[in-house]
Amino acid sequence: MTTKVPKTQEAYVFTEYGGADTQEHQTIDVPEPGSSELLVKVHAAGVNPVDWKVREGWLRPQLDPPLPVPLGREVAGTVAAVGRDVEGFSIGDEVFGNVGPTAGGYAEYAIVTAAESAAKPVQISWEDAATLAVSACTARDALLQLDLQEGQVLLVNGIAGGVGVFAAQIARDRGLTVVGTASGKDKALAESLGAVHVTYGDGVEGRVRALFPDGVDGVLDLAGGAGLRAVAGLASRPGKVVTTADADTADEVGGAMVTRDRGTAVLAEVAALVADGKASPLVRETFPLARAGEALAAVEQGHAHGKVVITVP
Ligand SMILES: NC(=O)c1ccc[n+]([C@@H]2O[C@H](COP(=O)([O-])OP(=O)(O)OC[C@H]3O[C@@H](n4cnc5c(N)ncnc54)[C@H](OP(=O)(O)O)[C@@H]3O)[C@@H](O)[C@H]2O)c1
Repeated sequence: MTTKVPKTQEAYVFTEYGGADTQEHQTIDVPEPGSSELLVKVHAAGVNPVDWKVREGWLRPQLDPPLPVPLGREVAGTVAAVGRDVEGFSIGDEVFGNVGPTAGGYAEYAIVTAAESAAKPVQISWEDAATLAVSACTARDALLQLDLQEGQVLLVNGIAGGVGVFAAQIARDRGLTVVGTASGKDKALAESLGAVHVTYGDGVEGRVRALFPDGVDGVLDLAGGAGLRAVAGLASRPGKVVTTADADTADEVGGAMVTRDRGTAVLAEVAALVADGKASPLVRETFPLARAGEALAAVEQGHAHGKVVITVP
């Protein structure tokens, strides 16, 4: 199969490291896939806190693409070109996955790393598929690391965000009791996930201990900083605190960062949970590419409920 790929495309890029004022719409070249990469015609792009962290330059030791580059680290779309060493993917395949290190997802075309991509199950929408590689797979990795058993209690600190909603559903599916911190406005959301809701902020440890006097068996923190310090003491055993948000505070409280596995097998495992109806990323807001700045602003303010997705015609 062949597909006609244009030379240029519309994208939402950042032009230098810094704040939201470095973002703009540009017409840029459609990139060529490297030998282990795929070029994907993007149908939907997930929006994550990491997108603005990359723009701010916080990840430069690991991610330092030539600028301007589109924002965004995950997409779902149709394969438009295949790198010469790639096996298992063909032009026309419907896929989702992690964007390559020198590329971005808020665009009509994106480069994904083949080994960090997977086939999109037909039951899953483009919008849902675009959210799985970052937050849903992180939730899966965190639970693997905590290694809790059926009947044990998991605290999800920040249950209403992208990672939290997915973590709660996987945990519930495994027979864990889930207690989730969120602001008061997200009580109904937490309860809809089968979790016991506790409001975060001053006194949170006492509120959890009022319900679980012996504390909890594991803490998955998605807030970092003071939010992590406030709940770390609830873990009944050392080593049962993991965070996605803050390596320094994790060290301070005897916890650990979540170790990521971005590979195809994990993507397929998480997609199967969605296809089987066991979990949903809860996509709450979609924005067309022309409004990508609003999509990122909605996430950057830090009070997400479920996922925000950019759709691309
Ligand atoms: N290392 C990785 O691979 C990886 C992957 C994914 C995510 N992350 C990181 O993990 C963090 C969470 O990601 P996400 O996608 O879930 O973010 P998100 O969708 O933006 O959600 C953040 C959630 O945190 C809640 N929150 C804010 N302050 C809190 C506090 N003090 N205590 C408890 N909850 C609080 C917010 O709830 P309210 O609206 O109720 O305030 C919001 O629902 C981010 O820092 C992200 O960069 C890392």
